[in-house]
Amino acid sequence: MHITVFSSRAYDRRFLDQANASHGFTLTYLEPRLEAATAVLADGADAVCVFVNDKLDATVLQRLATLKVRLVALRCAGFNNVDLAAAKVLGLSVGRVPAYSPHAVAEHTLALLLALNRRLHRAYNRVREGNFMLDGLMGFDLHGKTVGVVGTGRIGVNVVRILRGFGCRVLTHDPLPSPECLALGAEEADRATLLAQSDLITLHCPLTPDTRHWINVGSIAAMRPGVMLINTSRGALVDTLAVIDALKTGQIGALGLDVYEEEADLFFEDLSDQPLQDDVFARLLTFPNVLITGHQGFFTHEALTAIAETTLANVASFARDGRPLHPVN
Ligand code: NAI
Repeated sequence: MHITVFSSRAYDRRFLDQANASHGFTLTYLEPRLEAATAVLADGADAVCVFVNDKLDATVLQRLATLKVRLVALRCAGFNNVDLAAAKVLGLSVGRVPAYSPHAVAEHTLALLLALNRRLHRAYNRVREGNFMLDGLMGFDLHGKTVGVVGTGRIGVNVVRILRGFGCRVLTHDPLPSPECLALGAEEADRATLLAQSDLITLHCPLTPDTRHWINVGSIAAMRPGVMLINTSRGALVDTLAVIDALKTGQIGALGLDVYEEEADLFFEDLSDQPLQDDVFARLLTFPNVLITGHQGFFTHEALTAIAETTLANVASFARDGRPLHPVN
């Protein structure tokens, strides 16, 4: 099997090469994102290996099918960037990595939450500049606070476990309530109750037509004033403009993001010597109570090892049985 790996960085190469030692596939690493203009680079490949911001719409999938690519191997869990209906019509198989390290994202969620609460991003800079004043750095005890966890799948359940360890009351909301979360002492709540009672809200559901802009003008108005909001899931779960308005009024008291609606044009690139073109993102950066990381929740040694191994296991299964180990369609 010949696999063309799009959006690849040095770390992708390192972990995929390690995992490939037991397979012997031919891997071609490319830095560009997969999109209509770059699809031609998959010429000669049986499979493309792609990540969260590669764009696999109907046009791109059509081009891949014309090039005789037969498999899309996602090296991530989410698949909202793939037009599955078009893939089905074109006979393209799609595989993903359903679970690698749910701990990685859950722990990063807590890192954002704790850093924001105690203003570590500000404290770090202050101390380096010799400013040891504490004004503006006051946080709150997490112990005893109510945290709303939206989506209690693999990542959500780990977030619940950690929060219970901190002594939080946890409200969960998921169309398929998790017995594990209930056993951990979380309370399943409807959307309105979760919004009304949570001091902090963290999102762990996938991006679907139903969950798009789950955080919007209406849901923000239903939250407790000063609520902390964390999104490590997918950017478009949050209506960014509505959140900016709520940050200005104080209705949202702190915002931690690892994902952003328009991240495809920003994240995973070094743009540090260019003017920032995204005015909405630039506005977010002006708030002292906003902390943003560039989609690094998954980025641990354990997770990258598991991602590489499962991605190539999908390809091996496809080569053997015509079906990835973890098919999406
Ligand atoms: P999962 O599939 O195990 O769990 C998702 C849960 O969301 C399921 O229990 C599902 O029933 C629930 N859900 C679906 N619709 C919902 C709704 N309308 N309201 C509330 N809950 C709903 O997925 P997992 O592994 O826990 O990942 C969650 C999300 O985290 C992924 O979809 C992905 O977008 C994101 N993610 C982010 C990463 C990062 O690096 N920041 C890395 C990996 C995943």
